[in-house]
Amino acid sequence: MDKIKILYNEDEIAARVKELAETLYQKYGDDEVVFVCTLKGAVFFACDLLKRYKGDARLEFLRVASYEGESSTGKISLKMPLDAEKINGKHAVIIEDIVDTGYTLEYIRKYVADMHPASLIECTLLDKKARRVVDINPTYSGFVIDDLFVVGYGLDYDQKYRNLPYIGVVVKE
Ligand code: IMP
Repeated sequence: MDKIKILYNEDEIAARVKELAETLYQKYGDDEVVFVCTLKGAVFFACDLLKRYKGDARLEFLRVASYEGESSTGKISLKMPLDAEKINGKHAVIIEDIVDTGYTLEYIRKYVADMHPASLIECTLLDKKARRVVDINPTYSGFVIDDLFVVGYGLDYDQKYRNLPYIGVVVKE
């Protein structure tokens, strides 16, 4: 296995996820909220976030494909659709693992917005702000990171490393 340099350990992630869950609860109170988790990368984050969220949460999933290896193409395709009925008229929160160029979030945002939610925001665990190509800013982000390719806690490199409990950078030897 490659060596991984830890960027955020389990405790740091847990503390930040708890803060985000509290921020979201302060925003919505006991109103019903539909969390839209983007597969596969955001699944660890979404589970932990929802376990910490004290309000009335529903959970839906969608899957898009956008990434091959380390470079984003900007070409996004829908692999698993959402049921529009679950979104229409509800407060929706898109849960993302990482926003890089922004193409993926831009696509998902438009896709969900077209289902006419009562409101729509985005919550990403990681934000690589410096790499943005599209003019889109997630409403909430866990950590703003430098231009590094990170793995773990759901994030993969060619499907590997999702199961690491921390977020790290692969050190090439
Ligand atoms: P974007 O469309 O360029 O913003 O890329 C977003 C998607 O690319 C994310 O949902 C991830 O699946 C993937 N991605 C971007 N950066 C990384 C990274 O550092 N590690 C793992 N996946 C990444």
